Amino acid sequence: RYEITQRETTAEILPGVRTPLWTYEGTFPGPTIESRRGRPVTVTHRNTLPVPTVVHLHGGRTPADSDGYPTDLVLPEGWQEPHQQMGHGMQPGHGMRDPRAVVTTLTRSYTFPLDQRPTLLWYHDHRMDFTAPAIWRGLAGLQIVRDDAEDALGLPAGPRELPLMIADRAFAADGGLAYPALDPTLRVRPGVHEPYVAGVLGDVILVNGAPWPVHEVDAARYRLRVLNASNARHYELEAVTDDGRRLDLVQIGADQGLLAAPVTHRLLPVAPAERYDVVVDFSGVPVGGLVRVVNRLGTGRTRDVLAFRVVREAADDSRVPATLSADLPSWRPSDAVRVRDLAFRVGRMGGGHGWLIGGLPFDPARSDLTTGLGDVEVWRLVADVHHPVHLHLAGFRVLSRSGRPPLPHDAGLKDTISLRPAESVEIITRFDGYRGRYLFHCHNAEHEDMGMMANLEIT
Ligand code: C2O
Ligand code: CU
Ligand code: CU
Repeated sequence: RYEITQRETTAEILPGVRTPLWTYEGTFPGPTIESRRGRPVTVTHRNTLPVPTVVHLHGGRTPADSDGYPTDLVLPEGWQEPHQQMGHGMQPGHGMRDPRAVVTTLTRSYTFPLDQRPTLLWYHDHRMDFTAPAIWRGLAGLQIVRDDAEDALGLPAGPRELPLMIADRAFAADGGLAYPALDPTLRVRPGVHEPYVAGVLGDVILVNGAPWPVHEVDAARYRLRVLNASNARHYELEAVTDDGRRLDLVQIGADQGLLAAPVTHRLLPVAPAERYDVVVDFSGVPVGGLVRVVNRLGTGRTRDVLAFRVVREAADDSRVPATLSADLPSWRPSDAVRVRDLAFRVGRMGGGHGWLIGGLPFDPARSDLTTGLGDVEVWRLVADVHHPVHLHLAGFRVLSRSGRPPLPHDAGLKDTISLRPAESVEIITRFDGYRGRYLFHCHNAEHEDMGMMANLEIT
């Protein structure tokens, strides 16, 4: 059981200034919830923020009533008029027209059975049309699921296991977070906000809430549990030593847990909402040496992400076994009872443009896809520009990219897949666990708020 109060606070993120934040329990990121596979966790959220919220556990195998449907609100005290907080949504107030929604209470308990493969999950806000600015202001936290089999592998652990929540932000001169929607001059014509074409980017890279941190490490193996919690920024990470050597990034897990066997990368692409579980060995780095983790897609200051300073020689009995897990689903295309084609593209919506799936913007009242509990399906996802597509409830495997074999970092079981520009990606999944109404959407948070989300009904 956990209790989390969602509240406003300020924190010193940049030296010498206080930044107002919306937080889970007063910190950004929110408290990390440690949990065990199959041991249910109930989290009671109390909303003292000035706006309604919704909590979603990303990557959780969660019954629909605790999955954080975007109109399933936790209202703040005294909330009267749903339209007064109208933000930047392309269809303002969309989804909140029903005045009966106002009777919902200030607290809400979410129950997570966690009957799933151990992995790094994250919880974040998911309110319809307002997810992006809410996450931007600080509503994100980590949850780790473990089990005995994973604990027994001998991977780096304790202080040598580091969750890294990477998120970019922009700051105004007074220290406040700058989100373009808060600045009306950025609205170029009615209904069209130019900055959202690529999504909102910041010029400060935060790791676990701190700008460009330098973490002191032993000359030993570390397990880095990377989450890209940025609204829209993509990363291609590499770990570079003082003398210009690139260290191996040994991937041991994907969004939905351990791979069958490790995959070694020098360069690791990480799209919004993706998680990569990676082991890096600092034992070849001399004491005093610095290993910089850089984003090859960044420019200037956004090239740097964080750094590790090797401060001492140390014993290391950790290992990365050649076989990590044997329980990955092995669905074959011939198991699929359905093949669907889904296009993720910009299109006309209202008087402007929206980000659409199959030509339609999100509508909580519309039924989009219906599937049967236990059905295996193949989805062919097609993109115009870069879209990180996320499925609730079900993990999936990547079958192909534009007719070619998956990329090395597509290994394992995923819940978010980076569709690159003009690419078509085939994935295979099985909808099991629970019946009910779920979602799939682009996890570029601005695209999501501007319509790129759809309902998935499991019957
Ligand atoms: Cu990370 Cu539907 O969300
Ligand atoms: Cu999710
Ligand atoms: Cu998108």
